[in-house]
Amino acid sequence: MRIDILTLFPEMFSGPFSTSIIKRARDQGILDIRLWNIRDFAQDKHKMVDDTPYGGGAGMVLKPDVLVRCIEAVTDTRKVPMIYLSPQGKVWDQSMCKRYAKLDGFVLLCGHYEGIDQRVLEHWVDEEVSIGDYVLTGGELPAMVVVDSVARLLPGVLGSEESAVTDSFYHGLLEHPQYTRPAEFRGLKVPEILLSGHHQNIARWRLKESLRKTMIARPDLIEKRELSEEERQILDEIINEKDSRKEE
Ligand code: ADE
Repeated sequence: MRIDILTLFPEMFSGPFSTSIIKRARDQGILDIRLWNIRDFAQDKHKMVDDTPYGGGAGMVLKPDVLVRCIEAVTDTRKVPMIYLSPQGKVWDQSMCKRYAKLDGFVLLCGHYEGIDQRVLEHWVDEEVSIGDYVLTGGELPAMVVVDSVARLLPGVLGSEESAVTDSFYHGLLEHPQYTRPAEFRGLKVPEILLSGHHQNIARWRLKESLRKTMIARPDLIEKRELSEEERQILDEIINEKDSRKEE
């Protein structure tokens, strides 16, 4: 997959993209990340990329001519989806990760200052994406989040040890708790069932703890979900446990 990133600060990406799993994916040729400095497409002698907004007001707006020169250099004759990162966008989630992971490539445009000229947004951008309801100083960190979350879904990027299939969200539930040795640490014990070697009981315990965690932290995910008969039964168990604790 090829991902082109248009930014005023390409140097911000060097750490995250040359470490760990993303580094390995790039070295293996699974992921081809190309960084473009928007400022290289400014043509005046001051290399100006932004200007004051028409109508007045605070902040600066990225200039359409500079942006479109950069976009046209990047896309050339290719037709690739263009994502603009901004707090006004659709909130990025796992289903969007899966959708983008199926493509040959896409382009990420990082904004700064007060944003980009609306004409670029309307005529060159395919999708506006936010990574959450808070405001960052620019689109670079969100672009890294998008790359990381898509890259790990590409075939061959995660080893079987790191499999994406058992992740939180992959099946629409949060992940169950995990424990490792020692079986007792400062008097705190690992749940007995995990030491039992009984795979069926362990699988049921994990599903129960996933449901419990999701019910507490993200009840909206439970409401959206089509529950299986087993899940419905387990949820009833959890609710009854809570009720009986209340009565004590
Ligand atoms: N740029 C600034 N804040 C952002 C956010 N929350 N998501 C995407 N891009 C942004």
